[in-house]
Amino acid sequence: MNWKITPLSPFAARVEGPDLRQPLSAEEVRRVETLMDTHAVLVFPGQQLDQHQQIAYAKNFGPLDLGLRKLTGGPHRFEYAELADISNVTADGQVAERDHRKIVGNVANQLWHSDSSFQRPRAKYSMLHAVITPSFGGDTEFADLRMAWDALPEWQQRQIRDLRALHYALHSRFMLGDTNYTDAQKQALPPVEWPLVQTDPRTGRKILFVGVHACEVKGMTLAEGRMLLMDLLEHATQREFVYRHRWSVGDLVMWDNTATVHRGRWYDLSERRELRRATTEEVQTSPEAMALAA
Ligand code: OGA
Ligand code: MN
Repeated sequence: MNWKITPLSPFAARVEGPDLRQPLSAEEVRRVETLMDTHAVLVFPGQQLDQHQQIAYAKNFGPLDLGLRKLTGGPHRFEYAELADISNVTADGQVAERDHRKIVGNVANQLWHSDSSFQRPRAKYSMLHAVITPSFGGDTEFADLRMAWDALPEWQQRQIRDLRALHYALHSRFMLGDTNYTDAQKQALPPVEWPLVQTDPRTGRKILFVGVHACEVKGMTLAEGRMLLMDLLEHATQREFVYRHRWSVGDLVMWDNTATVHRGRWYDLSERRELRRATTEEVQTSPEAMALAA
C-alpha cells in the first residue's frame, strides 16, 4: 500500500496511490477508515469511476443511504437509486431551467449541512465524484466539527454539553422560501433529535453537531434555540476550520458527515455541473453509541 498522503488543511488530506476502480482489500478498507478518523475529509484525485465502481467502492463502508429519494422518487438518471444526482441536469440530460424543481435542492446544498442528519440512521460517509465541472465557481467547502468543539470557550462547552437539537428535512427549504408542500409531505420525514455534543465512538473526540437541518433546541424557546444554533454554526464554520475544494473531473471526495458540515458554493446555473454521490448509513454498534442516539 504505497499511498501518498498530503495534508490540505489542518484536517483534510489528499490520497494518491489507490485505484478505486478495483476491489479494495480488507486491509485497504481499514486504512481508509483510519485516515477518515484523522482527517474527516479525503480527496482522491484522478479516479474515473463508472456508476458500478462508485457503488462498489461505497459498499465497502456499510449499507447505502437513499437520502431524500425515498421521499421524492420520480425520474432518475442513474442505474442505482443509491446514487444521488448532484447536478443541475434534468432526467433527460438537459441543463435544468432555473425554476425547475431540482434547482432548489442545488441551492439548499449551498447552506452548511451534514447529509441526512434529518433522519435516523443518518449518513456516515458521503463519496462525491466529479463528472463535469463548470468553468468557474461550484467549489465545495468543509468544516471540521471536532475542531469547532475544541475551540469553544469552556463556559460555552458547559452551557451546551447536555442539549439536544431537532433536525428537520424541510427547514433549509423553508429558509429559501420553498414552502409549497402538502401536510403529508411535511410530515413524511418527522424531525429527529441528536445531541448537540457527541463523542466519536472510534476516536473519542468530541463533536459540535450543528448544521442547517438543526432548527430547534429541546427545552428552549424557538427563538433562543435558533439563535444558539446559528451562533454555533457561525463559530464552527469560521475560516480556520474550513477546507475549500476546487473540483477537477475525476476527483472523489469522501467526508464523514458525523464529524463535518459542508456546503456547495455558487456557480452559474446555466453551466453544466455534474457530480454523483454515494453515501453510507451510520451503523451504531457500540453500547455507548446506541445510548448517544437514544
Ligand atoms: C452533497 C452536497 C455540495 C456541492 O453532495 O451532499 O452537499 O458542492 N454537495 O455540490
Ligand atoms: Mn450534502
